[in-house]
Amino acid sequence: MESESKPFFFEKKSQKTFAPPRAPLPTRLRSQLEAFMVLRRNPLELWGAPAYALDVAEGKFLGRQQLLLNAPDAIRHVLVSNAANYRRNEATRRVLAPILGEGLFLAEGEAWRHQRRTIAPALAPRTMPMLARHVVAACQNTEAQLGRLLDRPVALLPHMQTLALNIAGQSMFSLEMSGYGAELRGLIMEYGMRFAQPDLFDLLRPAAAFGAAASPAARGRARFRVTWLAFLDRLIAARREQPSHPDAPRDLFDLLDAARDPETGAAFTHAQLRDEVSTMILAGHETTAVTLFWCLYLAALYPEAQDAIAAEAGQADLDGDPAGSLASLPRTRAHVDEALRLYPPAFMLTREAIAADEVAGRRVAPGSVVVISPWVLHRHRRLWTAPDSFDPSRFLPGAPAVDRFAYLPFGAGPRICVGATFALTEAVLVLARLLRVFRIGLCGSGVVLPRGIVTTQPDREVRFLVSPRGRLTAVEKQEAVLS
Ligand code: HEM
Repeated sequence: MESESKPFFFEKKSQKTFAPPRAPLPTRLRSQLEAFMVLRRNPLELWGAPAYALDVAEGKFLGRQQLLLNAPDAIRHVLVSNAANYRRNEATRRVLAPILGEGLFLAEGEAWRHQRRTIAPALAPRTMPMLARHVVAACQNTEAQLGRLLDRPVALLPHMQTLALNIAGQSMFSLEMSGYGAELRGLIMEYGMRFAQPDLFDLLRPAAAFGAAASPAARGRARFRVTWLAFLDRLIAARREQPSHPDAPRDLFDLLDAARDPETGAAFTHAQLRDEVSTMILAGHETTAVTLFWCLYLAALYPEAQDAIAAEAGQADLDGDPAGSLASLPRTRAHVDEALRLYPPAFMLTREAIAADEVAGRRVAPGSVVVISPWVLHRHRRLWTAPDSFDPSRFLPGAPAVDRFAYLPFGAGPRICVGATFALTEAVLVLARLLRVFRIGLCGSGVVLPRGIVTTQPDREVRFLVSPRGRLTAVEKQEAVLS
């Protein structure tokens, strides 16, 4: 890790170094009830200062052992070496199954292996040139829209969500999403606001003691699932109605449709296909959209970094050979990497131990919950220099290598994000294209707190000012007059 972080300066304020906002640290120990309330409101506020300095933090919550792991070796043990002993925990399943079903994210065992083998080829590095062309086509629409919204307050997160959804729909399912986008986003918002925070029933084990189906949230989620499945049925019917082009490369939908179980020879049932479509659209666009939001937010806070990306993007062939141009965008890539460090969209990876184990010298009982939090890990005092500072140069080529298990925006091991290469390709290309033509500033105070609701979101609507690059800013005009 670097010995010293290079600060950036904020032109409009006091010219002093400043760190981008983070979720506040608790100032005292909390009771279990308080911790539960915080978990529901904003899990990023759960951990106190010691958690950011310890290798392992251990506690009990609702009678169960909980371990927060920060030591890279211990994390490798859980995610890679002994991954078979750690499955997704029950609370995650209860919260996400009504929307993701038994698709790749929540599947376990042989069902997971079959799905992973089927899906991974559609997102492998060799498919990036094709996927990158979809990214460019969708981004051109966003550029045109933003071009019509110059110099007035504009909330960029919804634009990034629509863009990421269009890219996901086109690239994975050859589906034009414009007819479905508003309804889909509405349903996701509804789920996020009403059902995504775990309630007491979700955390208690076994749920049957109270009857999981009897909890108000579980009933609400079950009702939601009926509407959600009907929506997905319409989406799949629209995809099936499309004329197939014999020369077109097979997209993810074709691969899923054609897949056969290696042992039984069975195809995915309609219900399985639907869960997969749901998983891939959700996992594949919300995370990338918030990544782009935080990239733009940091670009607005640190204009020097923004200008460096614009200069780099101006030299790259973003239209003719988008995938090939990635190699000439190291600063843009470092900005994305740093945004993923400071605001990791997947802020918490949670596992449940199947059998007893030993991790970092601690005994792990069966049923214990093991948490690896990229949010905590990426700001750990001993693993990072100036952990709360924005310093993309730590990811530039030639910078000291970062421990593989200290930086986990996409997880690690067999369950590492299947769309990581795609997500990085998309984020780097979109950021380079937008900053090549636009200058992005913030309206208002600029203080935005991250909040964990399924992904790391801004705690309020954030408005930006988008102006054409090439035109002088007010500060530059003043400087030109004075010089
Ligand atoms: C910046 C964007 C993204 C981030 C930060 C992200 C993060 C992650 C993380 C941390 C995991 C592992 C979770 C765990 O181990 O518990 C994961 C899994 C997954 N991601 Fe992503 N992801 C992103 C984009 C995507 C995209 C674009 C797709 C699809 C095209 C996708 C599909 C999935 C799926 C299906 C899984 C489950 C994989 C499995 O369990 O085998 N993600 N993601």
